[in-house]
Amino acid sequence: MSEKLWKTVDGYLVDTLVGASPALDDALKANAAADLPSIDVSPTQGKLLYLLAKMCGARRVLEVGTLGGYSTIWLASSLPGGGSVVTLELEEKHAAVARKNIEHAGFSGMVEVRVGPAIESLAQLQQEKAEPFDLIFIDADKESGPAYLEVALRLSHVGTVIIVDNVIRDGAVADAASTDPRVVGSRRVLEMMGSNSRLEASALQTVGSKGYDGFAIGIVRP
Ligand code: SAH
Ligand code: DHB
Ligand code: MG
Repeated sequence: MSEKLWKTVDGYLVDTLVGASPALDDALKANAAADLPSIDVSPTQGKLLYLLAKMCGARRVLEVGTLGGYSTIWLASSLPGGGSVVTLELEEKHAAVARKNIEHAGFSGMVEVRVGPAIESLAQLQQEKAEPFDLIFIDADKESGPAYLEVALRLSHVGTVIIVDNVIRDGAVADAASTDPRVVGSRRVLEMMGSNSRLEASALQTVGSKGYDGFAIGIVRP
């Protein structure tokens, strides 16, 4: 079992199940040209986000952590007419690349990129009494995951699907003694998802073209 094999298998899965998408490929090229870090979800993970959004019939999606909009485009492409994505990004530079990529993919009419610390943008959404979201994808700074999850619950309705990326981090998550704030943050997120009576949740470890990591997934219950 090697990272090389994980990549080979991911390549096979992309060829067999995901297929080519010029707009998504172009987004990754534009991200690289702008020197954005290559920490987008992988193609198979992007397609999974797309499928999960379709499976829950999502019309309104909230994303925390835009980067160049790769996952945003996957999510937007899953939505029916009239659907919308609000995506939150700290860095003006990332948001600018994302807006271009989203426009090039044909989704600028349904995607709103909000720039600033996500915790402030989330507070703003609450203040605006934003209609609850159907699917929330949390993928920004890992140390703030617990705070994002708390607000996400307030922006949810019964049945909202909440997905949190990067909760495994090469297995570091199982280290209760870790002082890495990202690990502490992810562990707290998982504990919250496991103990909050408003959530039913699980997490999956994944390997692939982006290494060994994983995501947590939960659904808001009455
Ligand atoms: N979801 C993207 C990847 C996001 S990478 C994809 O899969 O394509 C994480 C992003 O979160 C980075 O762009 C980073 O700038 C942003 N980020 C980091 N801290 C943040 C904060 N406090 N508020 C909002 N965004 C933040
Ligand atoms: C990092 C962030 C991510 O969202 C990701 O998917 C992978 C890595 C990071 O900050 O290193
Ligand atoms: Mg991520």
